[in-house]
Amino acid sequence: MPSYVIIGASRGIGYQFLRSLSRNPSNTVVATARDPTSTLEKVSNDKLSNVHVLAADLTDAASLSAAADETSKLTGGVVDYLIINGAYVSQATATQSPTAFAGQESLWVSDLTTSIATNVTGTLYSINAFLPLVRASSIKKIVVTSSGMADTDLILTSGAAGGVPYTLSKAAVNALVAKYAAEFEDTGIVIIALSPGLVLTSWDSLEDPQAKAMYGFLDKWFKRYEPNFKGPILPEESVDMQLKVIEKVTTKDSGKFLSHREDGRWI
Ligand SMILES: NC(=O)c1ccc[n+]([C@@H]2O[C@H](COP(=O)([O-])OP(=O)(O)OC[C@H]3O[C@@H](n4cnc5c(N)ncnc54)[C@H](OP(=O)(O)O)[C@@H]3O)[C@@H](O)[C@H]2O)c1
Repeated sequence: MPSYVIIGASRGIGYQFLRSLSRNPSNTVVATARDPTSTLEKVSNDKLSNVHVLAADLTDAASLSAAADETSKLTGGVVDYLIINGAYVSQATATQSPTAFAGQESLWVSDLTTSIATNVTGTLYSINAFLPLVRASSIKKIVVTSSGMADTDLILTSGAAGGVPYTLSKAAVNALVAKYAAEFEDTGIVIIALSPGLVLTSWDSLEDPQAKAMYGFLDKWFKRYEPNFKGPILPEESVDMQLKVIEKVTTKDSGKFLSHREDGRWI
């Protein structure tokens, strides 16, 4: 009876983890969300069984500890897979390059502060809160969702100069994962940073005018990195690919920043 905890699962890729994992009735799936009521309503409308929804905010260590205590009661004190998916994905600075912040210093400070507080500190709070439950598992896997945007080769090849605070937070996440892996040496815990690919989450379809504008903008970067780039993949495809990577990784991979793709490409 494998147990999965998905931190930040109200929508997008996190919610897709609930859909995909709950298909196997032997899985126990625990989701955390800032607004558990609306997430529970979705879970119930979608008739997802074996999913439990708990309240937690990535920026609030006490809420994550309380969620870990509740999880322990549901799973008998064990978490096999801890997946930290939630993040502040800034739209406010998605297209600004570093020089765009000249004269916009307060935007820089506020967006970087929120990105770090949610994506980096939230990862550390989540891992520390759930670690006793992970240690008690025989599987012991921790996955932190990162982004190919944090890969310097992708930045240089694509020319993607925007999304700076978000990118810095994901680069820091990758380093934090390596730090945990160094600390976890010889414990049997496997921790990885995993990129989900470019995934259509904020909009239901690429036909949405806002989606067209955003992906039109990204297209010029990503076609330079991947000439055959055909646009974002759907959450279901990304989660299927991520779950294959998560199953495959061993202690030899601990600390690595991995792609959802076997060939290591990011999109
Ligand atoms: N979509 C992509 O193309 C893509 C590419 C690379 C990496 N990623 C990464 O994949 C992950 C999921 O992305 P997504 O596209 O599914 O994003 P999304 O649709 O914007 O969803 C973000 C999730 O994070 C949660 N969240 C935000 N702030 C939180 C906080 N303070 N505490 C707890 N949860 C919080 C949101 O919950 P609320 O509903 O409460 O806001 C939501 O469930 C993120 O780590 C993102 O960086 C995505």
